[in-house]
Amino acid sequence: VEDERGGCLNMLEDAGYYFSPNVQSDHILNLQNFKARSDDVLLVSYPKSGTHWFSEITTMLIHGYWNLPQETMKHLEYFPANILNEIPSPRVLNTHLPYPRIPLDFFRKRCKIVVIMRNPRDVAVSYYKFISNLSVWNYSGHWDSFFPLFLNGNVPYNSWFEHTENWLKVIKSGKHNLHVVFYEDFQSDFKDACRKLADFLEVPCSPELIDAIHRETSFANMKQNKEDFSLHLSKNGQSPIYRKGEVGDWQNWFTSEQIDLIDQEMESWGLHTDPRIRCLI
Ligand code: A3P
Repeated sequence: VEDERGGCLNMLEDAGYYFSPNVQSDHILNLQNFKARSDDVLLVSYPKSGTHWFSEITTMLIHGYWNLPQETMKHLEYFPANILNEIPSPRVLNTHLPYPRIPLDFFRKRCKIVVIMRNPRDVAVSYYKFISNLSVWNYSGHWDSFFPLFLNGNVPYNSWFEHTENWLKVIKSGKHNLHVVFYEDFQSDFKDACRKLADFLEVPCSPELIDAIHRETSFANMKQNKEDFSLHLSKNGQSPIYRKGEVGDWQNWFTSEQIDLIDQEMESWGLHTDPRIRCLI
């Protein structure tokens, strides 16, 4: 996909969806046949919403310990089914897939699904820095050129707005076993947000465990101690994943015109009226 100034973003296209170029197209298609287990916990997120952080938090809640420094993320799109099948129960699995592409077995088995959300403005900046810093995308555009790509969904996993609108509809329908977590809530009141997540997961959760999870999954700790498989693909030697870990970095990037444009996009998807999404921005 070309940006406004002729920069090019290298992606895999599969039936109208954009993916990372290192995802296998047939693997994505085969995912529809994925066999879920009823005690699986599936974490769903649009990229750059805090997936690594919530993966650690959830794994610690479920297993009650810190498995530093192994990589916890078990991503449906990146791990072959045979590897995922070998993981002992209960599994904590991740995906960035949009609602229509989630393997149906997760719904049939009424698995617990945690939907992760973050302010789309911070997501956009985080995505820009991530894509600019990873050689696999071969992207050297400026923020001003990347912004329209994000706004129009011409990025891997397509539109944040469509992704979010889809999930909000599903949440409102009450059809599945879902819980929403907001990146910003875990930044402002970790203990309260973590306790609510533990309640949804139906796991015991002592104040000591919450304190340990808070400490171990702090941004500084994860940046220093977690294995970061993207580091060897980094263009500038800095971690593409553990960048700033803050709320509101978008204010250093957005022009007033871009603020208006993202507001209009929210409005056109009907997201501006959703109180939970409103309070993110
Ligand atoms: P920034 O680029 O804004 O710093 P994902 O895991 O979905 O790829 O999301 C990455 C974003 O989550 C990055 O945001 C990263 O810094 C932030 N992040 C990762 N670990 C974190 C942690 N332990 N606490 C807070 N933010 C974290």
